[in-house]
Amino acid sequence: MCGIIGYVGKAEATPILLEGLRRLEYRGYDSSGIAVMNGSSDAPIQTRKRSGRLDNLRTLLTEKPAAGHCGISHTRWATHGEPTDANAHPHNDSSGRLALVHNGVIENYQVLKDHLEEDGHVFHSQTDSEVLAHLVGNAYDASNESDPQRRLVEAVREALHQVAGTYGIVAMHADAPGFLVGARFGSPLVVGLGKGEKFLASDVGAIVSHTTDAIYLRDRDLVCLTEDDFSIENVDGDQAEYEVSTVDFTPEQAEKGEYPHYMLKEIFEQPTSIQNAFRGRLIDDQASAILGGLQLTPRELRDVDRIVLCGCGTASHAAMVGEYLIEHLARIPTEVEIASEFRYRNPPLDKNTLVFVISQSGETIDTLAAMREGQRKGHRVLGIVNSVGSTIARESDGGSYLYSGPEIGVAATKSFTSQVTLLALLAILLGRMRHLSVDAGQQLLKELRELPAKVEKILLQSEHIRQIALKYLDAKGMLFLGRQFNYPTALEGALKMKEISYIFASGHAAAELKHGIIALVSEETPSVFIMPRDSVYEKNVSTLEEVKARKGPVIAITTEGSTELERIADDVIYIPPVSECLAPILAAIPLQLLSYHFAVALDCDVDKPRNLAKSVTVE
Ligand code: F6R
Repeated sequence: MCGIIGYVGKAEATPILLEGLRRLEYRGYDSSGIAVMNGSSDAPIQTRKRSGRLDNLRTLLTEKPAAGHCGISHTRWATHGEPTDANAHPHNDSSGRLALVHNGVIENYQVLKDHLEEDGHVFHSQTDSEVLAHLVGNAYDASNESDPQRRLVEAVREALHQVAGTYGIVAMHADAPGFLVGARFGSPLVVGLGKGEKFLASDVGAIVSHTTDAIYLRDRDLVCLTEDDFSIENVDGDQAEYEVSTVDFTPEQAEKGEYPHYMLKEIFEQPTSIQNAFRGRLIDDQASAILGGLQLTPRELRDVDRIVLCGCGTASHAAMVGEYLIEHLARIPTEVEIASEFRYRNPPLDKNTLVFVISQSGETIDTLAAMREGQRKGHRVLGIVNSVGSTIARESDGGSYLYSGPEIGVAATKSFTSQVTLLALLAILLGRMRHLSVDAGQQLLKELRELPAKVEKILLQSEHIRQIALKYLDAKGMLFLGRQFNYPTALEGALKMKEISYIFASGHAAAELKHGIIALVSEETPSVFIMPRDSVYEKNVSTLEEVKARKGPVIAITTEGSTELERIADDVIYIPPVSECLAPILAAIPLQLLSYHFAVALDCDVDKPRNLAKSVTVE
């Protein structure tokens, strides 16, 4: 939530910052702003900010350009204070010579603000972040240090010691031209090392077109940048360790290409992303899978007698499919914990419990906190993560990457199918150490390999699914119903529909319908049944009949060949045949396309749904 980018070098900062903000806009789009300064210590900092989308800032900059070779910028997801111009970042201190951008939440901001106001500071926004700008400015003004760079670093450090909460910040001062100070705690920040230029950003995607040499900062790191140099210490002033990594994706991967939306591009990338999730991980001669990153010996894996899968939103739905998969194939008791609950719930975990945290971004604050809570209790916590170098990837005790490539559309799509694919590999691996037969293992490996071609086949139905969506645009609400492996798929279908088309939708275990939900069935409330031809197919048909008997329109997602459904359902979408336990991977795709086409037809902003942000780095 919120994206920040800073630049210092020889080029004009504004175009670089605007381009970086465009790439970070998925993190928040309530307002944006930049502050730049030129090489002279007499020149004031020029700040431009606007509420609303980045285009508003672009327009402002055309009217009032801001020139300079050093600058900071921010795209906001509002937490404290409405999305107004005044609440947009960067914020200044009382002198107006310091500018600062912040991603995170300062929990004790009100107390600090009261003190500062008593001392005569005047605030211009309702944000928690402006407090930080004043704290740094205050410490700067009170310092005796004669070197302005050193003085700014000391001031940042002093301010950060006073705040409770999370932060990724970048600050600059007019007295120290060409100098940026950044620090992080709980919010991501990455340093980009270019030739004669340096960057700081919330996400490496914002800087990858300039450099592929990056340092992912750790919590409490503090970095100083000039165009030719950098240094990293921690906020206490001690030397900090760091590693220079090479970014593993190209700028083109983070572009929409020929697609109108990132979401559609990412839906269509699934044949490849699913393949990337299992590539090199299927061991034919053992009819098993290998997940080397888990760093667990066969004996340790054999000793696992309980598994906890933790995540938020879509990742928690993938975890639910994982629960069904692991219990079905490996017979190991598995539970799903919503990360935000797990971190405070204090559930009993014994020593043979293996905890996994699942996260596309690897930065979700609740998932990160759940991981740290598990580790605090002495558990080995493993990560299933997409973003290479993210905080969860670095702090977990091992794990596996999805290798899906950047997912930029706010609605998670390819990450869901890759997470489920990876959990299927885990279930096969654990299953083959227990009761899963060679034949069953081989059959699953064969089916995994067939998934990309089957996904291609489903994607060919995009137009058919669009036509279905067009029939139901007046829906008052929608129900998503599935059983067993496809109960979580139903939850995921409902989440997709809600978040991008703003149609109220709820997902349920299909048989729960008659325990209350059926009261919602009406001609204006379509039901989407996820009902491949599996062990509960006939049961689902009966439930579908109950909905039809009450005049509820039905869209059925079923297996090719189940043509009898065309007589009872209003619309049918077919998926190729697949083992029951892998069906959610295929069934999720028509649901993604359905919500996408609904959203486009309803003129919703598909890639940037209202009130949302891709990476939830605040509680
Ligand atoms: C839904 C969606 C969110 C995320 C959730 C977790 O489409 O994108 O529900 O799944 O915020 O995000 P990660 O996986 O990055 O931890």
